[in-house]
This record gives sequence, structure tokens and C-alpha cells, in this order.
Amino acid sequence: MAENAKGIAVVTGAASGMGEAAARLLAEAGWPLLLCDLNQERLAATAGRLPGQVETLAGDIAAADYGAGLTAALAGRPIGALIHCAGLSPTMADPARILEVNLAATMRLVESILPHMAQGSCAVLFASSAAHMQGAALDEAINAVRTPEAVPSLMQYTPESGAAYSVSKRGVKLLVERESPRFGARGARIASISPGIIDTPMGRQEMETHPIMKVLVEKSALRREARPEEVAAVAVFLCTQTASFITGTDILVDGGSIATMVGAAREG
Ligand SMILES: NC(=O)c1ccc[n+]([C@@H]2O[C@H](COP(=O)([O-])OP(=O)(O)OC[C@H]3O[C@@H](n4cnc5c(N)ncnc54)[C@H](O)[C@@H]3O)[C@@H](O)[C@H]2O)c1
Repeated sequence: MAENAKGIAVVTGAASGMGEAAARLLAEAGWPLLLCDLNQERLAATAGRLPGQVETLAGDIAAADYGAGLTAALAGRPIGALIHCAGLSPTMADPARILEVNLAATMRLVESILPHMAQGSCAVLFASSAAHMQGAALDEAINAVRTPEAVPSLMQYTPESGAAYSVSKRGVKLLVERESPRFGARGARIASISPGIIDTPMGRQEMETHPIMKVLVEKSALRREARPEEVAAVAVFLCTQTASFITGTDILVDGGSIATMVGAAREG
């Protein structure tokens, strides 16, 4: 088996939930880390708990100068792995901010990391099972948005934050499909992960606000939420050479939630 890509592993949203879990797994696997998050205090605490070489970059991924800051923090080192977890759920912001952070900032991030991706490296973007529930009805409109500046045009389809979340995450899934040839030309890969309902601060907040989510969990094949590590492990796997032929696709990690929904819809 070939060695993992050389370079630094970048994790966004590293101060909480699945990003923190991914950072821990990568550190234990010996990757040098650049951990990124908006919350400077929690980011420093997370970094302090991890073994090995750990650097941090605090900042808002939606800030106009974020890419420049990331490039400066890399200081010429190639990226061996990127796990992009930073994001906002429906109860956290209004539709405009959700589209901006989850989709426009992700598009900018992909653009700024591409020239730094090492041979054999992988970028993993966090989408959501909401992207699967969204279905393909708006794919043409979402795919027509090719620049971060054009993302607010999707507001016509997102009157409330739940819709904005689903459209933003569908956009992430489509972005991965579109960008995979450019990553492939560099000998790099890009994929997305769509978690179901995960026991993180975000997952708990959504669950408290929308009791229907408890029903979704109970009706899923595994009838439970996931621990953040169960999803982070898949993201880390995608960044290894064992996953060397996986690119341009989405991996659904939802305990069989979508499968049971589709099954129930088929039965009528
Ligand atoms: N938890 C779930 O049930 C669930 C389900 C499906 C998808 N997801 C997705 O998985 C990803 C990780 O979710 P989580 O549950 O670990 O969330 P979380 O809220 O526990 O952690 C997210 C982290 O991202 C950071 N962040 C938010 N906005 C940022 C910004 N603008 N700039 C920099 N950092 C920012 C937060 O400070 C936080 O530390 C998200 O993209 C989320 O949409 C989560």
C-alpha cells in the first residue's frame, strides 16, 4: 500500500464536534496539523489536548481575506489532507448567512487550497443528509452558480433557514462533482461526506429545536445518532491512500436514515 500524501492536514471547524474528532484521529495517525475555527478560545484548548505538531488559525471562513490568511499560515507547505467541517445549521443563522458560510465560503476555500494540494492528497467537504433529502429538483439552478458572489441569487429558493441549509449542502455535493477533474489534474482527490444526525453541539441544538428529528433517528436503520468519531473516521479514511480511487462523490454516513425514508416512500 502506498504511503499517505506528504504535507500538512488542515481541519476547519476543528474546535467542536466532528472537526475536533477528525483532528484527534489525524493527530493520532501522525499528521502535522493546521486547525482552523472561528472560536479562538476553544480552538486553542483543542490544540492543547492533541499530541504532535499542531498549529492554529482562528478566523471566519466567510471573511474576504480568509484564503490569504490560510495561504500565509501554510507558509509554502503542501496540503496532504483537508477536512472542512466549519458550517452553520438552520437554527444558527438567517438564510443569507447560511448560504454565505456553508456554500460561498466553501467555494472560496476550494479555490484557495487547490494550488497547494499535494500529489495523492484529498479534500473532504462536509455536506449533509439534508442534501439528499433536498433531491435534484433545484440542481440546475444550484449548479449554475459558479462564483461565490453569485450564491446570494439562491435566496429566491430559500425563504427560511432550513431551506437555505439544504440548498447550501446540496451545493457542496455538486461542487465536489464539478471540481473533481481539476483536483484530478493535480493528482489530488475531492469528496464530500453527508452525515445524518450526529451527537455534537450542533446536532443537539437542532434536535432540541426540531423534535421531528428524534422520529427520524428512531425510524433509521440503526435507530440511533452517531458519535462524532464515527463520521470523522470516514473523513480520515478518505484522506488515506486506501481510498485512492474515491473522488468526485459523496459518502452518506447516516445510519440508514435516507435508505429507510426511500424505502417507506416506495411502499407508499
Ligand atoms: N451534527 C449533525 O447532526 C450534522 C449533520 C449533518 C451535517 N453536519 C455538518 O457537519 C459539519 C460539522 O458539524 P458539527 O456537528 O461538528 O458542528 P459544530 O457546531 O459542533 O462545530 C462546527 C464548528 O465550526 C465552527 N464554525 C462555524 N462557523 C464558522 C465560520 N464562519 N468560520 C470558522 N469556523 C466556523 C464553529 O465555531 C464550530 O467549532 C457542519 O458543516 C454541519 O453542517 C452536521
